[in-house]
Amino acid sequence: MRPLILCAFLLAPAFGADSIRFLAEKRVFVLDAGPNTYVLGLNERGEIQPLYFGQRLWRDQDLPGARTMPEWASFDRTSTTTPQEYPGYGAGLFVEPGLKVTLQNGVRDTVLKYVSHEIKGDTLEIRAKDLGYDLQVSLFYHVYPQGIVEKHTVITNKTPNVLTLESAQSGTLHLPQGEGYRLTYLYGRWAGETQMVHEAINPGVKVLESRRGNTSHQANPWFAIDGPEPVSETHGPVWFGALGWSGNWRLAVEQTPHQQVRVTGGLNTFDFAHTLKPGESLETPPFYLGFTDQGFGEASRAFHRFQREYILPGGLTSKARPILYNSWEATTFDVNEQGQTELAKKAASLGVERFVMDDGWFGARNDDHAGLGDWTVNPKKFPNGLKGLIANVKSLGMDFGLWVEPEMVNPNSDLYRAHPDWAMHFPDRPRSEARNQLILNMARDDAKEHIFTVLDKLVSENEIAFLKWDMNRNASEPGWPEVAPAEQKKMWLQYTRNVYEIIDRLRKKHPGLEIESCSGGGGRIDLGILRRVDQVWTSDNTDALDRLKIQEGYTQAYTPKAMMAWVTDVPNFNGRSTPLAFRFLVAMQGSLGIGNNLNHWKAEDFALAKKMVAYYKQVRTTVQTGKLYRLASPRDPSGFQSSQYVAEDGKQSVVFATLHSQQYGRPVPILHLQGLDEKAVYRVTVLDGRPVELSGASLMHRGLELRLGGDYAATSVLIERI
Ligand code: DGJ
Repeated sequence: MRPLILCAFLLAPAFGADSIRFLAEKRVFVLDAGPNTYVLGLNERGEIQPLYFGQRLWRDQDLPGARTMPEWASFDRTSTTTPQEYPGYGAGLFVEPGLKVTLQNGVRDTVLKYVSHEIKGDTLEIRAKDLGYDLQVSLFYHVYPQGIVEKHTVITNKTPNVLTLESAQSGTLHLPQGEGYRLTYLYGRWAGETQMVHEAINPGVKVLESRRGNTSHQANPWFAIDGPEPVSETHGPVWFGALGWSGNWRLAVEQTPHQQVRVTGGLNTFDFAHTLKPGESLETPPFYLGFTDQGFGEASRAFHRFQREYILPGGLTSKARPILYNSWEATTFDVNEQGQTELAKKAASLGVERFVMDDGWFGARNDDHAGLGDWTVNPKKFPNGLKGLIANVKSLGMDFGLWVEPEMVNPNSDLYRAHPDWAMHFPDRPRSEARNQLILNMARDDAKEHIFTVLDKLVSENEIAFLKWDMNRNASEPGWPEVAPAEQKKMWLQYTRNVYEIIDRLRKKHPGLEIESCSGGGGRIDLGILRRVDQVWTSDNTDALDRLKIQEGYTQAYTPKAMMAWVTDVPNFNGRSTPLAFRFLVAMQGSLGIGNNLNHWKAEDFALAKKMVAYYKQVRTTVQTGKLYRLASPRDPSGFQSSQYVAEDGKQSVVFATLHSQQYGRPVPILHLQGLDEKAVYRVTVLDGRPVELSGASLMHRGLELRLGGDYAATSVLIERI
């Protein structure tokens, strides 16, 4: 089978040349996305039907046209047995619709039929319309060389009356008809994000969602489906997808009674009602879909590469993530020019490149009861403004970053006293505080403009290279009393759009500015925010052992380049103490940061940290932009974990390995490396060891025997092509 497929690749057109075609006779669309092909057809009723998404096909003659399915019984008419690419709720549809609409006259029946289409390079627009009313829907597709297909829709009200959208999804992924598939998704809570769940898909609907106003710690808008045959890190078919949206989102994973497995993703239908006046449109968030037949490892690698090239600001030319120091865990709110300068000096001596001052520098902020909203520097703590500290940091050879939490307000703040109505609320109802704070209703234009102006001023007046943009609570009482009741639920959508707008405008005006998305750790990590920020704060839980699983879940979906991982003090989150070397070697599996109180360090801690920072600089391009192979999972009962990164040009590879606790004197498993050139010879250096020379074949097939023993042991291996 393999040689045939390889040969097919050679015959297939290069990416970009005719990547999207319409076969007029068959009424079939063929979308080639790198190693994959996506096929759609128009059936005899004029409905758009999904026909295939999988490995690349090369022969258009092989493709069947779309055909409607017969009804199963009077209970399941053909409208529900025929898979539809983007069905409206209407004509007896009992699967998840793409669209649910109520017209002003009470009609709640939408049946979409093909009207026309347009192909422009790698983008396809298929236009459809309701069979009676002038409700228009454009389905947009874009193909990417990493095998990714992006979908979104634009829904336009061309009727003469207002209508209400009750569901507006971005699209649906259809799997080959069958049973026995498995779902993988990321679940969690504050300080326990991106925990992997792997379960069988059974008949029914499983909903993953956020109702919290942002992406959420609870669930992340990413999924993978594998099977039906056994699938591993290295083998087997995996379909995966993610939404690019940082507001309320929904993924419905469904197996119908007719063995159709489909995943519908888009705006959450919970508390959703979006009116469209005549002529108005709604654009749904992008839904990115991918496929590989090479297991979960290749699914992640393709998605990581896609994100680095097409999602993250700057694309492939963007800088490596600098090693940062963040003061939060060392000083919490107790910040001042002298104390931060002392920390900065120590951080600089380690080789740190960016110094970030966290919470506590502004307004009356001495703890979490006051100050949010007042983004002016506290003159008692910083008599020279921020300029004094920034000058000190810069003279030490680092750039300067600052923490902000722009969407929030403490009732004890000048901003709240001036504009109590800017906080999200319902009239005459209590305003629930969380961490003593309320949320500014960023859907309001005045609140949005104010926040943009304040941040712009901060960045214009000070040499700030980086903002850590935090958000430490979720929405409650999601009211917007200033607009008509029928419009108020638009708050969910407009809030997120306005946050995006502020970031986009800031970045445009200050092209050198970098931003980190943080929401009490990993509460806002998704492909919508990653289009606008350079990195994310993965979790407030910096316990190195917990981090291994958080990081494993994270890297299923997102690139390690954006995954900030700090070394911090012990005992930490669980009261656990792990050696400093272990903490470094866990954090170095992503983008390294340091958050320790350096005033408490001994000379040997500085010496070790200096060595680790220098080592990280040697391998960071490979870690951040290389291919990730998860060699051993931290979920394995052995307690042994390992990840390997291979540079895009194949010249360097680095392995990290950790052991939770050795038992019975057992050696750790032999590590079979991946992604190397069998024929090449490599210089292999275990941390603190002497180099040896080994072939790629030996490293991959015979493997590496690491000597790791005891508790919380860790090492790294540098592999350089000779
Ligand atoms: C939550 C963040 O995740 C922490 O890193 C820190 O910035 C605090 N907020 C500050 O209040």
